[in-house]
Amino acid sequence: MAKKSWEKRLGGKPDERMVDFVESLSVDERLYKYDIVGSIAHSQMLADNGLLTKDEFNQIKTALLEIAEQIEAGKFKFDKTCEDIHMAIEAALIKKTGKAGEKLHTGRSRNDQVATDIRLWLRDQIEILQDKITELQKAFVGQAGKYVKDVMPAYTHLQRAQPISIAAYLLSFVEQFERDFVRLSNCRRLLDVNPLGSGAVAGSTLKLDRDNTAKQLGFAGLSRNSLDAVSDRDFAAEFIFDCALIAAHLSKLAEDLIIYSSNEFGFVQVADSFCTSSSMMPQKKNPDALELIRGKCGAVYGSLVAILTILKAQPSGYNRDLQEDKVHIFTASDTVEASVDMAAAIVGNMKFDTEKISAGLDAGYMDATALAEYLVTKGVAFRLAHGIVGQLVAQCEENNKPLGKLSLGELKSACDVIDKDVYDCLGAVKVAGKYVTQGSAGLKQSKQQVEFWKKELAGR
Ligand code: ARG
Repeated sequence: MAKKSWEKRLGGKPDERMVDFVESLSVDERLYKYDIVGSIAHSQMLADNGLLTKDEFNQIKTALLEIAEQIEAGKFKFDKTCEDIHMAIEAALIKKTGKAGEKLHTGRSRNDQVATDIRLWLRDQIEILQDKITELQKAFVGQAGKYVKDVMPAYTHLQRAQPISIAAYLLSFVEQFERDFVRLSNCRRLLDVNPLGSGAVAGSTLKLDRDNTAKQLGFAGLSRNSLDAVSDRDFAAEFIFDCALIAAHLSKLAEDLIIYSSNEFGFVQVADSFCTSSSMMPQKKNPDALELIRGKCGAVYGSLVAILTILKAQPSGYNRDLQEDKVHIFTASDTVEASVDMAAAIVGNMKFDTEKISAGLDAGYMDATALAEYLVTKGVAFRLAHGIVGQLVAQCEENNKPLGKLSLGELKSACDVIDKDVYDCLGAVKVAGKYVTQGSAGLKQSKQQVEFWKKELAGR
């Protein structure tokens, strides 16, 4: 059983059940690098301000770096009776250095220490996630470049709606993940303040130089209120929310690809290397990786609900409830990181069956809206045009033919302003070439957008 700094205060040993229940080492072990970097910065600041001698600081720094090496090499023995990573490292330090190590915690509490560690960890982790998001976006843009001339149906209510370029479909995900990227940047900006010096809750009577540690740790600023600083986990909730939205976008992508790769659709082929088969049905090719991406979204949403609930109605100041933040930060982050990686690989290796998609394009009357807009250009009010085309569609459906197969006579008898130029806007492929509004999902626009994204992402 590790020695505790509070042994003199509490009688006897903690109950064995208590040791297991309060420990967080099994979860926060992975913060070790940041804990050590934070402790080196803190002790350097103490030395700079006469609270440690130069020699004591050197001993502390050398020992902390040795501990980091030991942990990295898997040679460090983690002792759960130390409770958490902060006490495990401090105990090892004291063992190595004796008196000098006993001074490390001067003017510091685990409360401001852990708040610092998580912020440092998140700062790096956000960059890792952003790099992976960029890779995923590049996979989409690479595919979009191959399909700027190909048309597919766009759906609303999962019913055929209007024709679009396949590139536009792919780029719709680049937009979603771009917002995720920006949200993570915002999150990183907000969390980039130094809580060190806030102590347990009220700061310290010792002259600590908070700007000194902020500078060493590369924080953009200082937290302004120690009471808030030790209990603030808004940034954790925000980060997990950002992860949850990434997971939502991924689940939508997964759902699309599962549907589009089914026999019923046959739009997309997911590479064999990302599928599994069945132990019983020899013909099967199952999109398990995509189903897992969709399913893993559940854990991330779970973490979001968990962090919000942990934060609810805690009294002001630090409460041990806050220790429960880390498992959810890590779950959300790890899950999303793995899923983004997998999605990038699947997207980069998938193939659209453009022949099959083209062959079915004239089903579903996806040119109906363009026909109504054609009537508008001939002076017909849109509501009236909508009715006329609706009637034509009903007529075609009865005879099982597309709008483009109606004769000019038949079209004219529905509305006499129709001329033979009407055939320029009938048929899905023609319509996809006729969109003119900015940001349309048409052929011209998506070609420009592919160029835009290529440039935009090249610098990342
Ligand atoms: N392991 C704790 C956490 O993650 C560290 C802070 C504990 N502070 C305390 N006063 N008990 O939040």
